[in-house]
Amino acid sequence: MSLKNKKILIGLTGGIAIYKIASLVRRLTKDYNCDVNIIMTKSAKEFMTPLIFETFSGNKVLFDMFDKDRVVSTRHIDLVSQSDLFLVAPATANIVGKVANGIADDLLSTMLMTSKPEKTFFALAMNKNMYHNPFFTMNKKKLYKNGYNIIEPEKGQLATNIEGEGIGRLADEKVIIDSLFSTNNKFLDGKNILITGGPTREYIDSVRFISNPSTGKMGIALAKSAKKLGGNVKLILGPTSILPPTNIDTTSVISSENMKKAVFEQFDWADIVIMSAAVEDIKPTNKILNKIKKTDIPKSINLTKTEDILLKLGEQKQNQLLVGFSVETENTIKNSINKLIKKNLDFIILNNPNESGAGFGNDTNRVTIITKNEEIIEKELMTKDELSDEIFKIISNNLP
Ligand SMILES: Cc1cc2nc3c(=O)[nH]c(=O)nc-3n(C[C@H](O)[C@H](O)[C@H](O)COP(=O)(O)O)c2cc1C
Repeated sequence: MSLKNKKILIGLTGGIAIYKIASLVRRLTKDYNCDVNIIMTKSAKEFMTPLIFETFSGNKVLFDMFDKDRVVSTRHIDLVSQSDLFLVAPATANIVGKVANGIADDLLSTMLMTSKPEKTFFALAMNKNMYHNPFFTMNKKKLYKNGYNIIEPEKGQLATNIEGEGIGRLADEKVIIDSLFSTNNKFLDGKNILITGGPTREYIDSVRFISNPSTGKMGIALAKSAKKLGGNVKLILGPTSILPPTNIDTTSVISSENMKKAVFEQFDWADIVIMSAAVEDIKPTNKILNKIKKTDIPKSINLTKTEDILLKLGEQKQNQLLVGFSVETENTIKNSINKLIKKNLDFIILNNPNESGAGFGNDTNRVTIITKNEEIIEKELMTKDELSDEIFKIISNNLP
């Protein structure tokens, strides 16, 4: 299960960063199709009116504990139990203090009192002196110890020039979404995920080889994301200087032959296979064992195609969900759909290395994800870590 279609409660408290939550609500409702209900404290309403939140969420904003219009007197409490997540953002020092000390003197704090800690998040935002206040620190620790989720603020420019730089700025929207997504949505729990990454080297002699500029960053990012989402992850990585995290079971390979062998050894184990490796398409027909001397360098070498591992996987797949990457610079969509069909894939992820920030070696990528039903999902330019989360969110909706 992903963040998609979740029922989310958002408590708004009285901090300057409240304006950022309008965009978050829009993102959750528009991109993730979440049903968002909002509660505002009395102070929060001093900063912004409920109208914008009502417009973006499509639901009436709640703020009055003794609202005369409500139909059922316990509706507010019911909303908590019916919701998947409860986020307080921005979370003031005051609301943290109230929850940590069992105070329920308005609608938000009363609703929080009935919420399970593991589904409750506080995205902190405050002045740096408030953040370092010893009572606040104690209250925050209390919440943390009792299983509540704390989204720490970031360092940076605070609201006013007088406050200057320091810790206290509300975490980025992306960080908040990731926290909601990863803490509560271990939707790959129990799933076996096999990921390949990096280039392969096809040796001409003992020191020279044919390869490509892949660095394995995409494969490593996918492996990290799958691990974070609760999956059992195996990474098969071609030669690269980038080290994968030590908590990921990694097999290093050199050639396309090695890659094929390693992949097929794990294929039966896997529920999901993502081939992000840039397996070299060509190899010398004959490999020379020793180093060719300068004086003996041949005018040409004969080349042979390497085996298409993805095609073979597609032919042999049983229940595995199979994802391939394609690198195309012309007729990109048409060529990728042809590959998807020919190789019996469930998804193909198209990247065009001619686009700026996309493809080999970059920390970012811009891809188009094409599903088995030929649905085309264009993603904006983002980091490979972000993209990996996005890919798994899309895959998660297609898991058996
Ligand atoms: C301009 C202004 C900005 C404020 N910003 C913050 C803030 O970022 N974080 C915070 O904890 N309190 C902030 N406060 C103080 C809270 O609004 C105050 O403690 C209030 O009682 C919080 O109420 P609530 O937690 O019920 O919303 C600010 C106050 C003002 C006047």
